[in-house]
Order: sequence, then structure tokens, then C-alpha cells
Amino acid sequence: MIASLNTVERSFDRGACRYDELAVVQPQVASTLLAKVTSKVQAARSIVDLGCGTGRLLADCQSLNSHASLTGVDISQQMLASAEKAVPSAQFYRSDLAKTPLGSATQDVVLSTSAMQWVEPKAALSEAARVVNDDGLIAISSFLHGTLKTWRQAWGLEQKLMPLQSEFMDAANAAGLIVIELTSERIVQRCNSFESCLAGVRELGAGGDRVQPQGLLGRNKFTQAQHNVKQHIERHGVFPMEYDVLYLLAKKA
Ligand SMILES: C[S@@+](CC[C@H](N)C(=O)[O-])C[C@H]1O[C@@H](n2cnc3c(N)ncnc32)[C@H](O)[C@@H]1O
Repeated sequence: MIASLNTVERSFDRGACRYDELAVVQPQVASTLLAKVTSKVQAARSIVDLGCGTGRLLADCQSLNSHASLTGVDISQQMLASAEKAVPSAQFYRSDLAKTPLGSATQDVVLSTSAMQWVEPKAALSEAARVVNDDGLIAISSFLHGTLKTWRQAWGLEQKLMPLQSEFMDAANAAGLIVIELTSERIVQRCNSFESCLAGVRELGAGGDRVQPQGLLGRNKFTQAQHNVKQHIERHGVFPMEYDVLYLLAKKA
């Protein structure tokens, strides 16, 4: 189940001011992705980051290659406001990353990290394929379905929130892309309080909206989840917050 664009936008607008301070897993994922494509970034004339957030990855690209034309796309106005401060020379568009105003075949490198889990993979990868140059590179990382499994169990949440790896593979095929590299990893943050778990989820974005204690039902769920998490911590010392991350490098066929 993909969250609505408005839900995601509102959630990131709210989280933007403390995102760089609180996000732990996302910078790690972005560094891993960048390390895979450093030489391409250094040689690129144009680079776009789809779902650029506060612009950290674009700032890193600028350090590696000060000549490239840099573009950031994000749905959240507040995230973009931070990104504009971080990388004043870049161009920014407030847009759905699956429907950007960018021209076709205009980008040497198309990056996206920790953002595509909120978009249908087919729509996201077909837009990446549209904007990348014929000899360009698409490099994305995204959270996958197994992300926050134990946390979601504590909340009694059963519906699918994030895409499966196979959906990205199908989407790459449908977009006419050749997959150059496909890897995944599980990152586990071990939290020692319910509150620290909650802070991590909020930085992930739309997940934050699902745990607001609204109404009696919401408050009951919140109390039950709090109890489940505390009980887990009492038994095991920590609560695992799992992030299943996909890294996909692809080019046009
Ligand atoms: C978890 S943050 C990651 C930000 C940045 N890429 C990073 O690694 O720090 C996800 C970002 O994707 C953006 N986003 C989510 N859905 C989007 C969409 N459909 N179109 C554009 N941006 C989107 C959010 O506004 C947010 O800035």
C-alpha cells in the first residue's frame, strides 16, 4: 500500500527542520550508494537527485564534481527549503519524482535514495529511465517491504507498506532498463526506549502519520504498541528497528 502523496508531503514538511539532526540510517544508505557510483558522479555533466530531501547527497556530489549541473526534485516544500540552503547553485523542483518537469534524456546520473519506497516502483523507474541519457546511469536505494517488521508487529499493522525487491526488478524491466547491479542489506538500529523507536520512524516519513494517537482507537493502539515495545525491551534489552535496503544500478537498454 503506497501512502498518498499528500500524506508523505505533510509528513516530510513537518520533519524537515530536524531531519538532518535525527536521520541516522538514511545518511548511511546514501553514502553506500554514492560509493558505488563515485567515478560516474565525478565524470557527469548533469546529476539529478529524485526525492533529494535536505540536499545532503547533492552537496556530496558537488564536492566530488563542482562542474556538474545539479538538480534536486522533492515533493516537500520544507525539505526543498533546506536543500536550497545546502546547495545554492543547484536547481530545485517541487514535484512528484514520478512526474518531473525535467526533459527526456537530460541527465548523466539519476540518483535517488530513501525516497522511492513512497512511490509505485513502475512509475518511479519509468521516470528515471525517461530523464537519464542514453549512456547515463541510474543509481537508487530504497527501503523494502521487510523494513520495520518488528515495529509494525508491535502496532498490529499488517498491510504492505513498502515495495518488494521483485517489484523493482519488474519495474526496471518494464522501463526497458538493464540492471547492472542489484544488492540489498539489512540495517538494524537497536533502540532502548519506545521514544527512540518512534523518533526513528518519524524520520522515515509517512510511517510517522500512522502512529499519531488520534481518537480512542488510535490512543488504544498507541498504548498497546507502547506496552509491546516496552515488554520486548524488558525481555531482550533492546528493540530492533530493521531497515531492508535495496541498491539498484541500471542503464538504458
Ligand atoms: C527519507 S527522505 C530521504 C531524503 C534524502 N534522499 C536522504 O537520503 O536524506 C524521503 C524524501 O523523499 C521525498 N518524497 C517522498 N515521496 C516523494 C515523491 N512522490 N516525489 C518527490 N519526493 C518525494 C520526501 O519529501 C523526502 O524528502
